[in-house]
Amino acid sequence: MNYRHAFHAGNFGDCVKHALLVWLIRALQRKPGGMLVLDTHAGIGRYDLDAGPATRTGEFSAGILRLLADPAEPLSDYLDLVRELGLYPGSPALARALLRPQDRLACCELHPEDVAALRSTFAGEPQVAVHRRDAWEALGALLPPPERRGLVLIDPPYEATDEFSRLADGLRLGHARFATGVFAAWYPIKHRAPVRAFHAALRESGIRDIVAAELWLRAPLDAARLNGCGLLVINPPYRFEADAAVMLAALLERLGTREAGEGFSVERLADE
Ligand SMILES: C[S@@+](CC[C@H](N)C(=O)[O-])C[C@H]1O[C@@H](n2cnc3c(N)ncnc32)[C@H](O)[C@@H]1O
Repeated sequence: MNYRHAFHAGNFGDCVKHALLVWLIRALQRKPGGMLVLDTHAGIGRYDLDAGPATRTGEFSAGILRLLADPAEPLSDYLDLVRELGLYPGSPALARALLRPQDRLACCELHPEDVAALRSTFAGEPQVAVHRRDAWEALGALLPPPERRGLVLIDPPYEATDEFSRLADGLRLGHARFATGVFAAWYPIKHRAPVRAFHAALRESGIRDIVAAELWLRAPLDAARLNGCGLLVINPPYRFEADAAVMLAALLERLGTREAGEGFSVERLADE
């Protein structure tokens, strides 16, 4: 396990994922019933962008710093949280900030140092459980939640060459156990072929109601670069497609490179 999210915190991929994550949690909270947010690959939760690993790559300068310098209304919910929470909030900190008294957050993380950091961030928080547990195993063990309502964020590091097929298997397993849950899976777009194969696997899975929201900084031709990213959502809440398009347009305007092939899309992979 070499991947450490601290080097990448606040980059454009985080901005896309976290802005849409905040929207998804709020959408589930339109109903009063309690819900579980399961963050299967949680990281350390909060990231110092003024010191430490993030400053070694500086990726956040082309990400969250640009959004904060030129805030857009469709991103205001996410950006307000980033400002309020101080250290750059990863997915667990954003979810924690949004929990209502009736909601719960469960985080899984395997890296020993990262799980220790996450545990200390959430020490004494009865609504938050931190597990040192394999994400793919957790999808079987922790689903369905007793609340029968929930959002599952799956955000692997893509270190392994078979990560896309593990993700497709994980989504099939998670959905089999919790068919009414909302699943959101982040993926990198380096070149098109692995993304096409992943989408095809989901189309063929028999799972209904799947949408993929993507943003590309440039045409995905150079497989050595992170040229874009996507969030695949199963059971997207009402208005996701329309609102995601507005948010992606605002993100692209601020994070775009003006290189050939930049753009965004919100594509339905399977009907309701
Ligand atoms: C991309 S980062 C997560 C970032 C986080 N979701 C956020 O948005 O702030 C992926 C994390 O998954 C952890 N990880 C890798 N393989 C895992 C596994 N099989 N189960 C649980 N965590 C894993 C890594 O240590 C890393 O911290």
